[in-house]
Amino acid sequence: MITSKELKNKFLTFFAQHDHAIIKSASLIPENDASVLFTTAGMHPLIPYLMGAHHPSGTRLANVQKCVRTGDIEEVGDYCHLTFFEMLGNWSLGDYFKDQSIRYSYEFLTSKQWLGLDPDRLSVSVFAGDEDCPRDEISAKVWQECGIPVDRIFYLPKKNNWWIAGNSGPCGPDTEIFYDTGKPKCSDNCSPACDCGKYLEIWNNVFMQYNKSEDGTYSPLKQKNVDTGMGLERTVCVLNGYKSVYEIDTFSSAVALIEQLAHVNYNQDDKSTKAIRIIVDHIRTATFILGDQMGVTPSNLDKGYILRRVIRRAVRYANTLQMPKGSIAQLAKLYIEQYSEDYPELIQNQQRVIDELNKEEEKFSKTLEQGEKEFYRVIQYIKDGVIGGGIAFKLYDTFGFPLEMTIELANEKGMAVDVEGFKDKFSKHQQISNATAEQTFKGGLADASVATTNLHTATHLLLKSLRTVLNDNTIYQRGSNITPERLRFDFAFGRPLTAQEIEDVQKMVNDAIKRNLPISYQEMTVDQAKAKGAIGTFTDRYGERVKVYSMGDFSCEICGGPHAQNTGELGEFIITKEQSSSSGVRRIRGELRK
Ligand code: ALA
Repeated sequence: MITSKELKNKFLTFFAQHDHAIIKSASLIPENDASVLFTTAGMHPLIPYLMGAHHPSGTRLANVQKCVRTGDIEEVGDYCHLTFFEMLGNWSLGDYFKDQSIRYSYEFLTSKQWLGLDPDRLSVSVFAGDEDCPRDEISAKVWQECGIPVDRIFYLPKKNNWWIAGNSGPCGPDTEIFYDTGKPKCSDNCSPACDCGKYLEIWNNVFMQYNKSEDGTYSPLKQKNVDTGMGLERTVCVLNGYKSVYEIDTFSSAVALIEQLAHVNYNQDDKSTKAIRIIVDHIRTATFILGDQMGVTPSNLDKGYILRRVIRRAVRYANTLQMPKGSIAQLAKLYIEQYSEDYPELIQNQQRVIDELNKEEEKFSKTLEQGEKEFYRVIQYIKDGVIGGGIAFKLYDTFGFPLEMTIELANEKGMAVDVEGFKDKFSKHQQISNATAEQTFKGGLADASVATTNLHTATHLLLKSLRTVLNDNTIYQRGSNITPERLRFDFAFGRPLTAQEIEDVQKMVNDAIKRNLPISYQEMTVDQAKAKGAIGTFTDRYGERVKVYSMGDFSCEICGGPHAQNTGELGEFIITKEQSSSSGVRRIRGELRK
């Protein structure tokens, strides 16, 4: 067994022995970087140095960086997603490059003196090459010299093997290292690019040698850098052969405390397991944000809003487990103690963490139950599956429900929320412009309405393409969830898609985008929509009037909107994952890139 502390120590000792200066974790609140709300990787605070500025500690650095990523917050509760994690990283600022970086990684992972992993269980991916950057034969050769055979070296395209923080800045091809869990191959095409659970990524070595400008063009950086990242929690999980990250030592005390406070057992049933996972994850995140050297407090704006969301979501789940008042702060205290050696700022800011958590819990507990009652009351009267903006606004304004919580409750009931309607009410109520309302929710799931609207439009193109490629007109949307970063689309289908089918679907969506198809809608009765050949589930809706959105001659679907005005506004569509969602249901994740 290896503990997280042991892994951290080994990592830092190894790189210190190879002349790396060990630097402190930077704040979770990025300095001079408006492109992200929180630090999401160890390289963020190092951007100026990757671009060529002189770093006071030299050209070889390593650290453990605290990171927050909330893009997948509603996935937390499964076996591997976390909103806070620690990242182990080493950097070369114009010092060593591919050869040395790969040899360091190989030695650290396989040498008996360090992790001692069986080299036969390692596979790697390298960049396949495209018009922006050549195929990475150099890395492949070094891997072979280390002892990785060619059949465990996979060449993958930009969507898998390229790293950039946000949309512009330093970036480059990467080589990723995977640990074989021992599961059988899911198909002949099984590779680290698929998501079947055979290959788990443990380390990413990025060769930062380009700068991507806002207009999408790449130019060489002044120097060739290395930026690596190893997710601590995931790696400890993999190394110990655990089924989920929540089994690692980091969470054991917090889980035990909840079991004791709520009189439940972590493994009692799926609902309790999920609730416990969400609470231990979210409260750890909240503790680190509140306890940061540049700490943020809950608010309705940007970072404060994200913080409020994680706390309130944890409070809601704590409530489902009937945890007593004050439990949240107790958990925070436990984390502060557990982490204080590595992050002394937590002790310095302990009072703020406890006070703010208690305040937020107190405020929200008062209205949570009433708000839930109100939610379940009003949805009885909703027939079209869409919760109006007025209702969402009342839940926000009167009961303190972050918009995303209403969306989550709605999704649990197979319903959606009219986010635009919500923003409209919000702006009227606050006597502010829609643009300011937009700004206010920036960073929340409901933010950047252009990004979510475009992804929503992509969802229609995706459904039509799936039907065509799979030659199955009984495919319907079974669920959809959109954040500004990505879409998630569930549909009933009895088997995984082949790599070729995924590629064909993606291409068909992109062809429709490139055709610049105009998008418009008409209102009509369900019967008329059906006669027009619109896609939609027609049950229980006869006689009602619906909107039918057409995207040129490509897609015609019943939908509440809103959508882009033309498919050409979308950018490039990329399917990032195809996986099982539940029995007989597939799930696709996709992104739009400019
Ligand atoms: N910055 C790279 C990552 O986060 C190492 O994966």
